[in-house]
Amino acid sequence: MNFQTQPQSQPTVLACDNVYKSYQQGPQQLAVLQGVNLQVQAGDMLAIVGASGSGKSTLLNMLGGLDLPCEGSVSIAGKSFNTLSETQRGFLRQQHLGFVYQFHHLLGEFTALENVAMPLLLGTCSAKQAKQQAADFLNRVGLGQRLQHKPSELSGGERQRVAIARALVAAPQCVLMDEPTGNLDQHTADDIHQLMAELNSSLATSFIVVTHDMTLARRMSKVYSLSEGQLHLQPTHSAIGAS
Ligand SMILES: Nc1ncnc2c1ncn2[C@@H]1O[C@H](COP(=O)(O)OP(=O)(O)OP(=O)(O)O)[C@@H](O)[C@H]1O
Ligand SMILES: [Mg+2]
Repeated sequence: MNFQTQPQSQPTVLACDNVYKSYQQGPQQLAVLQGVNLQVQAGDMLAIVGASGSGKSTLLNMLGGLDLPCEGSVSIAGKSFNTLSETQRGFLRQQHLGFVYQFHHLLGEFTALENVAMPLLLGTCSAKQAKQQAADFLNRVGLGQRLQHKPSELSGGERQRVAIARALVAAPQCVLMDEPTGNLDQHTADDIHQLMAELNSSLATSFIVVTHDMTLARRMSKVYSLSEGQLHLQPTHSAIGAS
């Protein structure tokens, strides 16, 4: 099953304009992103592939406003992160984005249920509603029997699924995912793909997924590769080795 490509007339959710990012390491400057441009419309399903160290997580951090570019800008719903304080960036992210980090970043002292309920509790949801909705999403990622487990009491793949449920629970307009299916078996990964497809078709949720999983990449409507600091749209899925 392929996700539908949305018509171009959809509103722009996220825009990345000519983004440069370098890291200073002592006297050395490491240029990672060198003029990245990307427009994400409501309902877009994008994959970003690329070699280890090519800058995929760096790019996702810029797109999510977790870090700022050295040059260029990233805008969410027409607002540039560059013009905002860290608190305002956090608020913009909370309103519009869901984020699945490469290394999960769950809150260790809270249960799976509390971790997933957190984005709803930061909004206007009552505690009861938040817990019900969190339990529903944990069920949908196959963790209905692990609600009270803390991250240290879960397997790696289970933690990953808690992180996915947390990113999706508040129905954000755009979800950024860094290797979401890296620790998952094919059957569990298929369930996650199914959940993404449902949210995409019912709410026009956009997804930007960094992945080495070619099954997942093939299911996206566009695939970009990141190399030499720039994004390159793959002409067809077969160009990235899909069968
Ligand atoms: N905070 C930092 N300071 C200095 N260098 C960094 C920093 N973060 C990342 N880098 C370097 O930038 C490059 C890109 O890193 P990044 O994590 O974005 O790669 P990636 O494409 O996500 O790789 P992987 O597929 O292994 O997750 C790497 O060479 C890395 O060593
Ligand atoms: Mg990475």
